[in-house]
Amino acid sequence: MEPNDCQNTTQMDTKVVHGCKGYDSHTGAISFPIYQSATFRHPGLSQTTGYDYSRLQNPTREELENTMAILENGKYGFAFSSGMAAISSVLKMFSPGQHIIVSDDLYGGTYRIFEEVYKNYGLEFSYVDTSGIEAIEKEYKANTAAVFIETPTNPIMKVADIGLIAQLAKSRNSLFIVDNTFLTPYCQRPLELGADIVIHSGTKYLGGHNDTLAGFVILEDDVLAEKLKLIQKSEGAVLAPFDSWLLLRGIKTLGIRLDRQQQNAMELAKWLKENKNVKRVYYVGLPEHEGYEISLRQASGFGAMISFEVASAELVEKVLGRIKVIMFAESLGGVESLITYPMLQTHAAVPEEIRNRLGVNDRLLRLSVGIENVKDLIADLEQALE
Ligand SMILES: Cc1ncc(COP(=O)(O)O)c(C=O)c1O
Repeated sequence: MEPNDCQNTTQMDTKVVHGCKGYDSHTGAISFPIYQSATFRHPGLSQTTGYDYSRLQNPTREELENTMAILENGKYGFAFSSGMAAISSVLKMFSPGQHIIVSDDLYGGTYRIFEEVYKNYGLEFSYVDTSGIEAIEKEYKANTAAVFIETPTNPIMKVADIGLIAQLAKSRNSLFIVDNTFLTPYCQRPLELGADIVIHSGTKYLGGHNDTLAGFVILEDDVLAEKLKLIQKSEGAVLAPFDSWLLLRGIKTLGIRLDRQQQNAMELAKWLKENKNVKRVYYVGLPEHEGYEISLRQASGFGAMISFEVASAELVEKVLGRIKVIMFAESLGGVESLITYPMLQTHAAVPEEIRNRLGVNDRLLRLSVGIENVKDLIADLEQALE
């Protein structure tokens, strides 16, 4: 479970390529083998190879879990069958009657599982703008057990000060959970800033190729790790061996993909700002963005997610119908640029009045910038926005 025997590399762009062990010590295989086995032969009575049954642990998944642990600079990594399975498993660590403070702008599926599933099991949630520490502080109650944030948020890209929230959460004896999907450990490592638990939808940048679902939890604390391990092995929402291998392979290029995606995103954000049919651009890398300074301090990149508001709802339909290189599809983080309409897709589960307050209106589009040549992306948007 612990990444004790990982290679001792120091640089992030080397770590992503080599992962934990980096190769199969039995055969020397450079591509870590897919141990496609549900169960493992015991050498004898009360003896084990370290692997008994793949719901408990599988060598391919273990290499991936340890890789994620070292990338996030944590002690324990856990791989799940999706980001939502990871979030769900973390929520099971809490008890009925406990209260969690959550970012008001966040992935709609996360909002849905909180409101429509976990409320029924007695958990309480309140939603605040977590880009301000006072709002979080005000929301604390006697039964507050955790703060759960995304930063940048999905889709409005609000930035929270991770270090500051970590101090507050600690002083109130509560846990601090960060969904780090948008920036990945390549750009931001919340555990280093004081968070207790990091969550990922591995489906996004970590996998990077829009070809599989995955989720991760990374943490530091031994007791929390035991608790989560019990949930993971008992529930079984684990990542399969082949998908674990896809993720290991995807992560190898995380650095160069994100470098290119961020470079493209910066150019596109600047271009969108100048387009007469674009009324507002939300990109953390623009100096006028409210979270720009905090981002410079706590992250080594701005990510490659841009949201923008066009002049009218009619134009949204036209853009989605006209784009050719950029694809109209849900999800983000892959090599292909994707555009979504949050109001009807990723955030459909969020009530209209909350959406409108946040700015997730009928004119808002969210763009996940890929690794294509940025000239093609700009040309595509130019003809679509006419
Ligand atoms: C920020 C964030 N967290 C979690 C999830 C859920 O992940 P998955 O789709 O892998 O279940 C998503 C999915 O879009 C997301 O954007």
